[in-house]
Amino acid sequence: MITRIAQISDTHLSKGKPLFDGNFAPVQDAVRHTKPDLVIHTGDLSLDGADSAEDLRHGTAAMDALGLDWLALPGNHDVGDDAALGGKQPINAERLARWEDCVGPLHFTRDIPGWRLIGLDTQGFSANPAHRAIIAKAIASAGARRIALFQHKPITQEALDDTAVNYWPLLPSPRAELLTMFGEARPALIASGHVHQWRDRVADGIRHIWAPAIGFIVGDAWQHRVGEKILGWVEHEFHADGTHQAKLHRMPALPLLDIGEIPAAYGPMRSLD
Ligand SMILES: [Fe+2]
Ligand SMILES: [Fe+2]
Repeated sequence: MITRIAQISDTHLSKGKPLFDGNFAPVQDAVRHTKPDLVIHTGDLSLDGADSAEDLRHGTAAMDALGLDWLALPGNHDVGDDAALGGKQPINAERLARWEDCVGPLHFTRDIPGWRLIGLDTQGFSANPAHRAIIAKAIASAGARRIALFQHKPITQEALDDTAVNYWPLLPSPRAELLTMFGEARPALIASGHVHQWRDRVADGIRHIWAPAIGFIVGDAWQHRVGEKILGWVEHEFHADGTHQAKLHRMPALPLLDIGEIPAAYGPMRSLD
């Protein structure tokens, strides 16, 4: 028994500023062609859902147009970011509620043969004790199932004991809290987005898969290159015996847009490292 899941990420869709919407239509066709059992969007569904319900509704309509079962996790452009990072759109209750109203739940648990899939809201995880309690319960009750986490931000850039605080990975404090929930048994897989780079590696006993973005890349002038700066999506195969395979679907026909050269989206670019 195999469950096939298409992971798509970082579409940055908008009705008012459809700068990246043109990249999504070919991906919709490619994903439909593979007939996955489920599609998981790992965040930054919208260009500016942190301030625009219209952008979130527009992204939801685009996902519905797939005609497939789908789930989504919020990204920093959907619900804001950790206040410790000093951005203009801090996570707050209003932004999280807007996602729930326009898109759906902030997290999910989905059991498939051999596996428990947990959708973790990396954006609200620090601020929301109720959310943390739900995730802790999902981890503790997984039984013999292996756990795959789907989330917007990667849990770390390199190692689980990294202390760096920057724009890209989960901050050290919520990371430590999440790892405490797991105890000795770590998740088998963490599939994330946010970095707009493709990366697939095993570290600290966990397979870390960073899905490439669909909307755009972040040029080398503003972001270090730690993976591959391409556009595309990832097809996961979860087997009932607890094994897992992942296949990258490159989309080389899509224009490799560099957000640093498109100030109409988020304003003048600054270094994000
Ligand atoms: Fe993004
Ligand atoms: Fe992001």
